Amino acid sequence: MKLPNLNDARVRTKNEIEQIYLDQQYDSNTFKGQKYFLKTYGCQMNVHDSEEIAARLESLGFESIDTIEGADLVIMNTCAIRENAHDKLFGFLGRCKHEKEKNNKDLIIAICGCMAQEESVCNEIMTKHKYVDLVFGTHNIHELQDLILEKNNIQTISVYSKEGEVYENIPYKRDSKIKAWVNIQYGCDKFCTYCIVPYTRGKQRSRKSCEIIKEVKRLIEDGYLEVTLLGQNVNAYGKDLNDISFAQLLEEVAKTGIPRVRFVTSHPWDFSDEMIETIAKYENIMPYIHLPLQAGSSSILKLMGRRYTKEEYIELFNKIKKTIPNVSITTDIIVGFPNETDEDFKETLEVVNECKYDSAFTFIYSPREGTPAAKMEDSIDMKTKEERLQQLNKLVNKYSLEANKKYVGKTVKVLIEGLSDKDKTKTFGYTDTMKLVNVVGANNMIGQIVDVVITDAKSFSLDGEIK
Ligand code: SAH
Ligand code: SF4
Ligand code: F3S
Repeated sequence: MKLPNLNDARVRTKNEIEQIYLDQQYDSNTFKGQKYFLKTYGCQMNVHDSEEIAARLESLGFESIDTIEGADLVIMNTCAIRENAHDKLFGFLGRCKHEKEKNNKDLIIAICGCMAQEESVCNEIMTKHKYVDLVFGTHNIHELQDLILEKNNIQTISVYSKEGEVYENIPYKRDSKIKAWVNIQYGCDKFCTYCIVPYTRGKQRSRKSCEIIKEVKRLIEDGYLEVTLLGQNVNAYGKDLNDISFAQLLEEVAKTGIPRVRFVTSHPWDFSDEMIETIAKYENIMPYIHLPLQAGSSSILKLMGRRYTKEEYIELFNKIKKTIPNVSITTDIIVGFPNETDEDFKETLEVVNECKYDSAFTFIYSPREGTPAAKMEDSIDMKTKEERLQQLNKLVNKYSLEANKKYVGKTVKVLIEGLSDKDKTKTFGYTDTMKLVNVVGANNMIGQIVDVVITDAKSFSLDGEIK
């Protein structure tokens, strides 16, 4: 077994990383005919990382397959944000182990993503799951081909405990030919007390704006109609560099002329007036903002380390609503943070009643080892937390439906992305405000932005037909 280097940072200098790139010439016949199964959990960052992983595997000749059965290599790209991630990983590994023992003794089993950055997870794999061949972390995806080529029958754990430098010219096999993810920053420095991301993804590193613009221009040349700028806290973009602000970056991206620009996720703390004005000013910056609230009580927000109060959040929310016409706003909310009282929870409901979100992702607080909140004593039982979640979901769904119903009878622009999964006679796409629409009559319009009349509204989607 290779020694894990979890405690020793293997930080490479920029030159060394560039050297790795220069040296990276792979033979696509090496694994010709062999199949990989890649399963992705977590946020858009993981989804985009999987596009890199796919490109790297295909450079060696692997082809994708959508079942474990029949695969020669399985990779699970994990998310560590909540406790249930653990069950998902080890449930998945159980299936892989079965496949390896029963049908394919040469099956390569690999784990990556945010859970790979957790020392306890690596230890568990090293001691109890010896059939796992490879664990690699979020900071060394660029080594994937080498790790596979060097693989022998020894379990390999290759996880950098610290981030390296930002590097460019990453290969991607993009899932869509219409819309693309573009990383603008990696990691997060906010250290909200409940959150594991700063530990799994490292400190904030922004990409140079000129590189981002170069990538967007290349995507336009390749026919892409939409980009989503990705980061855990996009509005803190550039603060770690001597570069432009996020508002300026948005403006630069809008000026490339790409029809649709989106970004995710914004932290209320760094949300500047300049940003709001820029979003309002450019037609191709979509009027859709994901603005996580997390909690409505200022005392819980303080314990969470969120750096804004309930009042400041509502003020920002109203400013955005007032300045950006037709904007839709969604949010994330956690219930059951340690010692959240009934009063605290009521304040969360109050904010929801005031903001009437277009939709919200809601979660029960999940303690994550190594975070400050995990050490807080908690007197609230799980049953209370579950009841709160139900109550919150009911309210959130009511407002989602209300917001969606306002669209009925209106004509909206929808970027048609593909055939509906459930009903192939229909297509699906998104409005500028990020509403999912199932569209009748647009089967020959995939990849176009078209006018759609909305005929019906549900809590999570709209129905429409071509105008
Ligand atoms: N960077 C984003 C959030 C990324 S994580 C932001 O700051 O808004 C996505 C969501 O997962 C968070 O907004 C939060 O609502 C939820 N989350 C994060 N850690 C959690 C935990 N320990 N328990 C429950 N939910 C959590
Ligand atoms: Fe986690 Fe907070 Fe960073 Fe979001 S801003 S990723 S919640 S630490
Ligand atoms: Fe999960 Fe990592 Fe994203 S913990 S939410 S995949 S940054």
